[in-house]
Amino acid sequence: MPVIAFANPKGGAGKTTAALLLASELASKGARVTIIDADPERWISQWGRLPGKPDTIRIVEGVGEEDIVDVIADEAAATQFVIIDLEGTASLMVANAVGMSDLVVIPTQGGSMDAKGAAKMIKLIRNQERMTRRPIAHAVLMTRISAAVASRALRNVRAQLDAAGIPMFANGIVERAAFRDIFDYGGLLADLPSAEVSNVDKARANARAYTAEVVARLRDAAEPAKGVA
Ligand SMILES: Nc1ncnc2c1ncn2[C@@H]1O[C@H](COP(=O)(O)OP(=O)(O)OP(=O)(O)O)[C@@H](O)[C@H]1O
Ligand SMILES: [Mg+2]
Repeated sequence: MPVIAFANPKGGAGKTTAALLLASELASKGARVTIIDADPERWISQWGRLPGKPDTIRIVEGVGEEDIVDVIADEAAATQFVIIDLEGTASLMVANAVGMSDLVVIPTQGGSMDAKGAAKMIKLIRNQERMTRRPIAHAVLMTRISAAVASRALRNVRAQLDAAGIPMFANGIVERAAFRDIFDYGGLLADLPSAEVSNVDKARANARAYTAEVVARLRDAAEPAKGVA
């Protein structure tokens, strides 16, 4: 079943956060999800040890560059969605995971260092496409955008990416306390106590819209004749 990797060699771009939000929304719809935690900080594995993780989310940690391809293949055969949270470098492990993926999400904050990281990742994806002789769907995901200026900021970046022929998610991930606090509270976004965490409903709406777009992009990648570019 589909494999979705989160990759940007720039550290702190929002990979781990976006990966967990996707898993949380897919699981709250009843999907079975494996998260391969290949981030050396292992935030998602730590989240998984807090109370509240549903049994439908399985977390695999301690994966190395020599076994990541086997682990991805095994998990993809066994579960509905495989999400890979990658380290913030452009390593052989990242290249192997990208080569095994149906969709590569490239989380990017507004700054130029993140954008350079995204450009490096797109070059790596193009190389993997040539090596594997198949297209690898990918899209830039703007992260930590301000709710107040979201539309203007996104329009500017979209114009630049469009000009370069790089796909971008229509929905960015907004800067929200809920997206930090989920790592402290454990459980799904839907389980966060709205009395203690501000704007949980808005955070969920954001995560849901982004998750729907991931699912649509996977569908398009699986049926390229019907899909949009
Ligand atoms: N949408 C968001 N709202 C609030 N905080 C966020 C959001 N996205 C990321 N952060 C915070 O920014 C920091 C970096 O995010 P994250 O760990 O997801 O990035 P990363 O790309 O996985 O980093 P690394 O390269 O180190 O693995 C974290 O402290 C995280 O809590
Ligand atoms: Mg990370």
